[in-house]
Amino acid sequence: MPLSSYRQFDAALTFAAESVERTMDRLLPLDQSGGGNSGEARVVEAMRYSSLGGGKRLRAFFVLASATLFKVGKLPALRTASAIEFVHAYSLIHDDLPAMDDDDLRRGKPSCHKQFDEATAILAGDALQALAFEVLAHEDTHGDPAVRVALVGELARASGAHGMVGGQMLDLLAEQRARDGGEPLAIGAITRLQRLKTGALISFSCTAGAILGKASDHLRAALAAYAHDLGLAFQMIDDLLDVEGSAAELGKTPGKDAAAGKATFVSILGVERARAQAGLLARQAAAHLEPFGSAADLLKQAANFVVARRT
Ligand code: IPE
Ligand code: IPE
Ligand code: MG
Ligand code: MG
Ligand code: MG
Repeated sequence: MPLSSYRQFDAALTFAAESVERTMDRLLPLDQSGGGNSGEARVVEAMRYSSLGGGKRLRAFFVLASATLFKVGKLPALRTASAIEFVHAYSLIHDDLPAMDDDDLRRGKPSCHKQFDEATAILAGDALQALAFEVLAHEDTHGDPAVRVALVGELARASGAHGMVGGQMLDLLAEQRARDGGEPLAIGAITRLQRLKTGALISFSCTAGAILGKASDHLRAALAAYAHDLGLAFQMIDDLLDVEGSAAELGKTPGKDAAAGKATFVSILGVERARAQAGLLARQAAAHLEPFGSAADLLKQAANFVVARRT
């Protein structure tokens, strides 16, 4: 049953998660060189440890759901969804390193550098990022080389210094500033930071279907507008769950942001106003999908999920 025949978001997300898991597993097979004891085998084991068998797979869902709007084939959509989940997994491995958030728990198990070691975690992250681009560049991802180049270019932009990595840098600088007793970031600066560190990869995910389907600029812009609002709401809820969630629910350690003195929407607005603001953004996000009519129902439901989630 294709994703487009699902009416309920929860079932659709489960289907998307299972489909992308199978594709990722095939794209990243165990390395048997040297009887599985080689250097390559170790880094592949760490890559699989951190990218398979966990996560909500929301970014994969966004790729698959946006692809259904333009009748994109199953394999191109699943390969693109795998690529973004590989980049996301890499970003989480590096985010958890002692030099960054120093987190021991991720997706309910020891983070990559705890399970292996720091050097292996750095290399596994690097290799997951490279794998994502290898997957996108392969002809199975799209028959038209121009589409493959567009995907590679957009994912590179979303991941790099003016995307996720830039946002992570701003995030760490803000923490440093807090440690030095400086002024906390103002709300405009936090918004920019969050749009980069989380919003950029979510924007790629939501517009990937339009790239694969060679959609009109108008429809691609509608998805970009949806992602712009939803990406921010997503990170606001992540910050809220850091305050309100438990390790058992989240699969990661709560309370890290406050301990690091991080300026978030929650630290500035408080829990209630941050939640209200995220709700407003999610409704605004869904409103951008009007041009698609009922075909975008799953993406509209996803906006609700993003703000109602407990994990
Ligand atoms: C966590 O993302 C990191 C952020 C960008 C806030 P998710 O909450 O999507 O993490 P997984 O993939 O479900 O583990
Ligand atoms: C990390 O944000 C976002 C990226 C990995 C790009 P957080 O540091 O808030 O993510 P969690 O809470 O550790 O998942
Ligand atoms: Mg972080
Ligand atoms: Mg973190
Ligand atoms: Mg967080």
